[in-house]
Amino acid sequence: MKPGHSLMKHYLQFKDFRAEEYAYLFERSAIIKKRFKNYERYTPLVDRTLAMIFEKASTRTRVSFEAGMYQMGGSVVHLTTGDSQLGRSEPIEDSARVISRMVDVVMFRTFEQTKIERFAAHSRVPVINGLTNEFHPCQILADLFTFIEHRGARDGQDALECLRGKTVAWVGDGNNMANTWLQAADILGFTLHVSTPSGFEVDPAVAGVSNPACQKVFKSPFAACEGVDLVTTDVWTSMGYEAENEKRIKAFADWCVDAQMMSLARKDALFMHCLPAHRGEEVSAEVIDGPQSVVWDEAENRMHVQKALMEYLLLGRIG
Ligand code: CP
Ligand code: NVA
Repeated sequence: MKPGHSLMKHYLQFKDFRAEEYAYLFERSAIIKKRFKNYERYTPLVDRTLAMIFEKASTRTRVSFEAGMYQMGGSVVHLTTGDSQLGRSEPIEDSARVISRMVDVVMFRTFEQTKIERFAAHSRVPVINGLTNEFHPCQILADLFTFIEHRGARDGQDALECLRGKTVAWVGDGNNMANTWLQAADILGFTLHVSTPSGFEVDPAVAGVSNPACQKVFKSPFAACEGVDLVTTDVWTSMGYEAENEKRIKAFADWCVDAQMMSLARKDALFMHCLPAHRGEEVSAEVIDGPQSVVWDEAENRMHVQKALMEYLLLGRIG
């Protein structure tokens, strides 16, 4: 920690930060991204080390955190369950005590949210959720930043204004992404239309929202998409739920975001998917590879927002 920056924070779920902290992070993400695009060096994290612990597979999360940390002048240690003592039953509390004595920040991708909470409770340094069964806050941070880039600031709107009052349709599984969208809707003042097959609903108690009106539930995914500003979906089977794959393929057959579904949204509606995607399952190739899709910007923005996040957690507010 920088001297004077004594208030250690973790980022374990979206609701760990307030709206005004998000306004700050979106502002910093834009500055950091612009510098990167202009090939300007920005190395505020020299001599800082990030430990990344993966108990599940990853492409985007690993590359975005690793590249981002190096670009900011720091270095990275990469651990997985298989190549560390985590896979040989070392208690999570002991792992947290040890790892956090040697690094400055930890990114953890794991199964139950309680596991990352136990890790954080025994960590001397900030812990970032890189995805759990319940939440994926870094992804929603990137998604919101992507929405703002595409739909905000045209008439001088600030980032939060651009999100307030908007409607996002969640089509598919009531999973970690859906729970995190719900927290974001609650904190940032937009509405989430949710349509899931029966038996795969979002449980608002998991998200712990303060304003239940931020969620509207629809039986029909078509009805959920009517008039919305953004349509978003995710895989039918998340990591850790592979045993349910066959059952899910049957249950989710009508929850494919296709051109007909997109045509019910606003004309300027965007399409997002956190990726990896399965064309022909949760989304048609026509939609994900079509003009309304911003999935590649969304993936790239993981790196820019996470650089802003690490800067904030390690250095506090700049300026
Ligand atoms: N969206 C996302 O988190 O991708 P990875 O699983 O590849 O990290
Ligand atoms: N819901 C998906 C997201 C992958 C980035 C999963 O948890 O596997």
